[in-house]
Amino acid sequence: MSNTNTEFMKRLSLSFLAVLPFLILVNVSPSKAQNSLYHFAGNMKSYTNKDNHFEARLDNGAVRISYLKGVGFRVRYSFTGTFDPLFSYATVDPMPPSESLSVSDRGDSLLVKAENLTAVVHKKPFRLSFTNGNGWDFIKESYGAGHEGKKLAHIINWDQDTQFYGLGERPDDLIRTGKTYTLWNSDTPGYPKGNEPIYQSMPFYIGLNTKGAWGIFYDNSFKSQFDFGGQLKSDIGFYSKGGELRYYVFYGPKIKDILKEYTTLTGRFYMPPKWALGYQQSRWGYYPDKEFYRLADQFRSRQIPCDVFYTDIDYMNKYRVFSWSNRYFPHPVKMMSNLRKRGFKVIPIVDPGIKIDEDWDVFNKGVKKDVFVKYPDGSNYTGTVWPGKVYFPDFSNPDTRKWWGNHVADFINMGVAGVWNDMNEPAVFGGKTMPNIVEFDKEGQKASAQEMHNLYGLLMARSSYQGQLQANPNKRPFIITRASFAGVQRYSSIWTGDNSAKWQDVKLTMPMVMSLGLAGVPDTGFDIGGFNGSPSGEMYMRFLQIGIFMPFSRSHTVIDSRRQEPWSYGQMYEYINKKFIQLRYKLLPVLYTSFYEHTQNGSPIIRPLSWDYQSNKDVWSIDDQFMFGDHMMVAPVVNKGANQRSLYLPEGKWYEFFSNKPLEGGRKITVDAPIDAVNVYDKVFDHPYAGLPLFVQAGSVIPMQQVQQYVGEKDINQMQLRVYNGASRQSELYEDDGESQDYKNGQYRLTTFQTESSDNSLKVNISMKGDYSGAVSSFTWKVYGIDQKPEAILIDGKKVESQYDKNEHTVTFESDARAMSIEIKK
Ligand code: GLC
Repeated sequence: MSNTNTEFMKRLSLSFLAVLPFLILVNVSPSKAQNSLYHFAGNMKSYTNKDNHFEARLDNGAVRISYLKGVGFRVRYSFTGTFDPLFSYATVDPMPPSESLSVSDRGDSLLVKAENLTAVVHKKPFRLSFTNGNGWDFIKESYGAGHEGKKLAHIINWDQDTQFYGLGERPDDLIRTGKTYTLWNSDTPGYPKGNEPIYQSMPFYIGLNTKGAWGIFYDNSFKSQFDFGGQLKSDIGFYSKGGELRYYVFYGPKIKDILKEYTTLTGRFYMPPKWALGYQQSRWGYYPDKEFYRLADQFRSRQIPCDVFYTDIDYMNKYRVFSWSNRYFPHPVKMMSNLRKRGFKVIPIVDPGIKIDEDWDVFNKGVKKDVFVKYPDGSNYTGTVWPGKVYFPDFSNPDTRKWWGNHVADFINMGVAGVWNDMNEPAVFGGKTMPNIVEFDKEGQKASAQEMHNLYGLLMARSSYQGQLQANPNKRPFIITRASFAGVQRYSSIWTGDNSAKWQDVKLTMPMVMSLGLAGVPDTGFDIGGFNGSPSGEMYMRFLQIGIFMPFSRSHTVIDSRRQEPWSYGQMYEYINKKFIQLRYKLLPVLYTSFYEHTQNGSPIIRPLSWDYQSNKDVWSIDDQFMFGDHMMVAPVVNKGANQRSLYLPEGKWYEFFSNKPLEGGRKITVDAPIDAVNVYDKVFDHPYAGLPLFVQAGSVIPMQQVQQYVGEKDINQMQLRVYNGASRQSELYEDDGESQDYKNGQYRLTTFQTESSDNSLKVNISMKGDYSGAVSSFTWKVYGIDQKPEAILIDGKKVESQYDKNEHTVTFESDARAMSIEIKK
């Protein structure tokens, strides 16, 4: 064995694969290769370049490289030497077109080029590296691709300057470097920090280096493991229990570029129904129907905005999916219609387990259509969940998706506004999940539980999505799912499952949601207040102060916790909670516009600071602060009893949102964030942070609207635009009807504001796109950071009236929403 191999043996500890003697092929003969347990590629024997594919024959199988337009390289290894037709549940259909590749021979290596990227093919031993336009090998296979039987490994070099983000939802810090993670969707109630794995699998990560960012997506759904230098130390490893070793390579240099490429491949979220961005209220234990009427009265009489109620499992008749309990909900259609009149939409939980019950037509039809997961002898697999003994729909069977979709469509026609897909890891009582031997249809090709397990939540969400479109083709569906896989953003939103009322979980919310955004899933959130246990008033408030910025903002809790509504903690907390929920409704235009941006480029709504300040290495690991959309930064208080908060203010000029005080960035600051900041929101000058440190970048235009008790309550014709003087930036405002698919046909209005700040003026150049006629007709401008009464305000070159406030340093004026330029002459 070579020195390199001995060294590697020392470093490698593969507990996951339980490999004993671990032999690596480094330029070795085929006979030695046969003796080793783990077979790597060996040497390259020959290659071809045709039909937009580079294909090389290797000692051990073959590799096929393609380049997808707007995405990056796709690499497929086959250790048998033959390739199955390309199929994936994770990627979009049809795939982005592949580009032709140019190949040049350098003797020891080949250069395979497309767009600005090069795959360098080292021949002996066969190894790939990927190089950007400046000759930087951002990915280098060290041991490369190998297998032991059906188990796969892919080992690349770790340049120790590289840090890692990735894998979506993990209850862990934002940075993954130095750790190992398992991908196996698991029901993990009350997961603590570091619990591995939890509900979802997103085999995609981003490498972050001062030279630039890059990404890899392994399109493989089997149980797998990622080692970011936790065990391998000098290398990064991907291991999987089976399937094809297929990976995609993305190059930045910006994280933004990678998200765009990754979501070109795996798809993007659609514009959500606007009401789904309102505040939502849930608990396991809201029943009977009277409880919802009471809640509706409470919200409306206290004037705390709310858009959605959830019905948890007790709404069902003996936990039969798609049924209603006669006892608790005798008139569901009437209840939902009454609630809707008051602005409340109802979303029921829909678990996958179908109760075995011959007196029930959903079950009988399912049996007749043969839609369930099977044992190898063709009998239906039986598991136990809430209803007792159940069969599980096999969502990889097109007939199942249709049958399920029909039931979802019926539900929608009854008046439900969307569905909440839970327990879809799938969770099974007793054994945690289904046994290995069960079988799935996989579009008629048959597949094992090992392959399909991690896809179960994704395919359930897809069926629920299709069912809603079937009922209302021109309406936007709404699904929230617990389990999922890469690509789920094409169908669904996500909540992070059963967290707990613990301070540690208040902190965990941020890296979890940021990591989901960096896995291409924009609409995510957590149980505000924590699912398990009962938070104190202070903890609930701190959860909520983060929660109101979450794309998906819902309070939810377990059956035996104390009451957990925004008013459950006394007058002071009710007041503060109300103010913050109101703030969410005021900021809805910012939130909604961020969703539009996601549809254009895959950007998250909640972003780590590195999204905007990537060249500043100091911000890479910050995960207790986040950007909300393009221009706002939130630094919530996450410690018990804390009345202050230290935070990092990135470079440039900022404003405190509540006091409008300008601040210079590029430094650490400590700010007051009093718990009992009662009345703060109204008396901003006395209590600058309103208990929540919130900042805006100078140069931005922040669109805000009046508070509504629910989305659509008021006809909003006017918006406030807050402009922060002192820098030049671009901002956007997106508007459409909030519920139909017409935006896809140009029925929207996108207004772009470009500020230009100089010593003697602040200009805003405005441009517009789209034909939506329902957009607001006028703006009230409020410009901050104006130290003296301006000489003049010009709108499209004409002087207009304005009010100057010398205490606030603001100037206010009105404009038509179609104005093209604003000038504030100092
Ligand atoms: C699971 C869900 C939780 C739900 C409960 C009862 O624990 O994660 O949100 O309330 O089941 O349906």
